[in-house]
Amino acid sequence: MEQHIKTAAERFAELIERQTARVRAMAAQPDFVDYTKLDKLIIGVCGGDGIGPAITGSARLLLEELLRGESVEFREIPGLTIERRAEFGKAIPDDTLEELKACHIILKGPTTTPRAGDPWPNIESANVAMRKELDLFANVRPVKVPEQGIDWVFFRENTEGAYAVGSQGIHVTPELAIDFTVTTTGGTERIVRQAFEYAKKTGRKRVTAVTKANVIKTTDGKFLQIAKDIAEEYPDIAFDDWYIDIMTAKLLDEKRRRDFSVIVLPNLYGDILTDEAAELQGGVGTAGSANIGKRYAMFEAIHGSAPRMVTEGRAQYADPTSMLRASVLLLEHIGQTEKARLLERALDICAIEERRFTVTGRDTGVTGKQFTEYVLETVKALQSR
Ligand code: IPM
Ligand code: MG
Repeated sequence: MEQHIKTAAERFAELIERQTARVRAMAAQPDFVDYTKLDKLIIGVCGGDGIGPAITGSARLLLEELLRGESVEFREIPGLTIERRAEFGKAIPDDTLEELKACHIILKGPTTTPRAGDPWPNIESANVAMRKELDLFANVRPVKVPEQGIDWVFFRENTEGAYAVGSQGIHVTPELAIDFTVTTTGGTERIVRQAFEYAKKTGRKRVTAVTKANVIKTTDGKFLQIAKDIAEEYPDIAFDDWYIDIMTAKLLDEKRRRDFSVIVLPNLYGDILTDEAAELQGGVGTAGSANIGKRYAMFEAIHGSAPRMVTEGRAQYADPTSMLRASVLLLEHIGQTEKARLLERALDICAIEERRFTVTGRDTGVTGKQFTEYVLETVKALQSR
C-alpha cells in the first residue's frame, strides 16, 4: 500500500476507535440528574471573549436577583479566554475543564473560535469542545415571532455529525483532504427522543426532522430512519421530514412556516438553520440556546464574541438579550418554571412590546447595562404585582 494511504488509514482507525469508545460511554451513561434534588446547585459563569463578559454579567445579575434565597452558588470561571486557550494550545485548558466539571450548570458567554490566518493557533472551538467534553447532546434553540405565528423549537444534535471530528480531518496528500461525518444510533435516538418528549410535555403537535438523506445516504439516512422509527412511538404527534435545502426556503414561506413547531436535525444543519430562524426573530443577538446533557447543561448565546464591536469601541452597546433568553432556558431546566416565565415575560415586554429603551449595538441606542437595568426593573415590577 502506498505510504500516504497507510498513514491516512492509521489516522482513520484512530478516529473509529475513539468514536467506538464514545458509543460505549454513551450507552453506560446514567440518566438525567434531577437538579431540584441537589443540596446546592452550582452555576459556573464563563464570560468568554469580546462582548462575552459584559453580556454574561447581565445574565448573571438577573439570575442572582431571581434566584435570591435559593440554594445556588455562582462560581466565576475566568480561564476560558482566547489568550489562555492559545497559550495552552487547547480548546479548553485542563484546569478550566476541571472547574467546569465541578459545576452542574454553566452560563457561558461567546468565545472566539480561531480560524486559519488568525493570530491565534487554529485550535478547536471552545463551544464545540465543551459540548463534547460535557456530552451536551441537545442544543435547544427556541425562536418566536408571535405576530407572524412563528413558534419554533429547534433540537440540534450537538455532539455528532460534521462536528464530531471536525478538527480531525485528514490531509491525505497535498491534493486531497477528507473530513468525516458521524452518526450513531444512541446519539440519534437520544436527540430525537428529546424532541418528541418535549413536544409531548408542552402539547406541541408536530415534530419535523431535517436532513439531506437523499444525498448523504449513510449518516443522514440513518438519522432519518431512526427519527421515523421513534415517531411511531408517538402516534399523537404528527411527524414529517424535509431536506435541508428546501427547509431553508420554507422557513421564509409565510404560509408554510407556521406549521413547523419542533424541529430535530443533525449538528451542521442545526447550526445553519437556527441562525436563519433567529434572523427572522430580529437577529442572532435575540436568541438564546440551551446545551443539555444528562449530567451537565450549558446556556449561551447563539452568536459569536463580536470582536469588531470591541475594536470599534462599541462593546458597551452589545445587546445582552441572547444571554438573557438563555437564562430563561436555564431557569426552566433547573425546575424554576415560574421564574423562567417571569424573566421571559419581562424580556417580551422590554424587547418586543414596550421597548422603552432599545439596544442597537451603537450609540444610537442604550448600553447593554442600561437595558439590563430596564429588564431588572420590569422583573421587579412584575414580582410586586
Ligand atoms: C453556534 C456557533 C458555534 C457552532 C461556533 C461558534 C463554533 O455558531 O453555537 O451555533 O458552530 O456551533
Ligand atoms: Mg452557529
